[in-house]
Amino acid sequence: MTFRARRSILYMPGANERALEKAKTLDADALILDLEDSVAPDAKHDARSKVAAAVRAGGYGHRELVIRINGLDTPWGVDDLRMAADTGPHAILVPKVARPGDIVNVSRIHAGMGGAPETRMWAMMETPMAIFNVREIASVHQVARLSCLVLGTNDLLKESRALATGGRFAILPWLSVTLLAARAYGLDVIDGVYNDFRDEAGFRAECEQGRALGMDGKTLIHPGQIAVCNELFSPAPDEVDWSRKIIAAFALPENKAKGVITLEGKMVERLHLTMAERVSAIAREIARP
Ligand code: COA
Ligand code: MG
Repeated sequence: MTFRARRSILYMPGANERALEKAKTLDADALILDLEDSVAPDAKHDARSKVAAAVRAGGYGHRELVIRINGLDTPWGVDDLRMAADTGPHAILVPKVARPGDIVNVSRIHAGMGGAPETRMWAMMETPMAIFNVREIASVHQVARLSCLVLGTNDLLKESRALATGGRFAILPWLSVTLLAARAYGLDVIDGVYNDFRDEAGFRAECEQGRALGMDGKTLIHPGQIAVCNELFSPAPDEVDWSRKIIAAFALPENKAKGVITLEGKMVERLHLTMAERVSAIAREIARP
């Protein structure tokens, strides 16, 4: 099992060359180069060329590069997918997924276009139908090379006509059900964006809520959101220390065959070892210089 830090996932409009350049210096774990909703119809062609040039040129270091294509039912989707197959980002984010077939189709067409098998699919969960079908969507992860579900909370609010009240009261059950479906199939889940990017207190509270729900990270719209997001989605120092102690304790010869041990007066089971290995792997990754 390999783990990847996916704390801060920054969107940027594919037509915005300055943002594509600036992203090389920002401390986000992943970048979503968007061709979909943040790009006006007249700018789609130009955005596709700019994103292609940026992915080809590279220079993004440790950051995961994700291209969000337009849906295959739009005039731009197939050309976007061909560009992604040609340039080989780490992942392709598929918008407005409704059924498992939507993500399987994109994956198969991508393979048929000669796209690299290492390129993963990420799925936007942003329609009522997606939430109803989330378990079936997550279940096709192997055939569709799906590794991540991304909440599209603005679209969910629009489609449901729910209100964006404090605490995300209306959409909370949909976030939780998405989380459970993802975990049932070993996928990562990234929370939706916080639109009011100058409101740090509100953003912080929403990150904490997402973290408490079990989210791996949050999608972001502005560089000013990265530091707080990284802080709140990183494992806490005492959690990292405790994880290292658990790993060391189970590695002792006398504990190798045990399912449960006592560590500093607390019961520790093998399930805690699995959790500790993940925390420790992510801590190592984010300690990068
Ligand atoms: N990615 C990379 N760089 C970004 C950025 C982003 N998402 N948003 C802003 N920046 C850069 C700006 O280019 C600017 O850089 P500079 O000072 O070196 O010129 C700096 O950060 C400060 O930007 P600021 O002036 O505060 O914001 P803005 O008014 O230029 O842009 C938004 C505000 C909301 C339009 C912009 O942040 C944005 O486009 N966000 C992403 C929207 C998106 O992709 N939505 C789709 C998914 S919901
Ligand atoms: Mg959307």
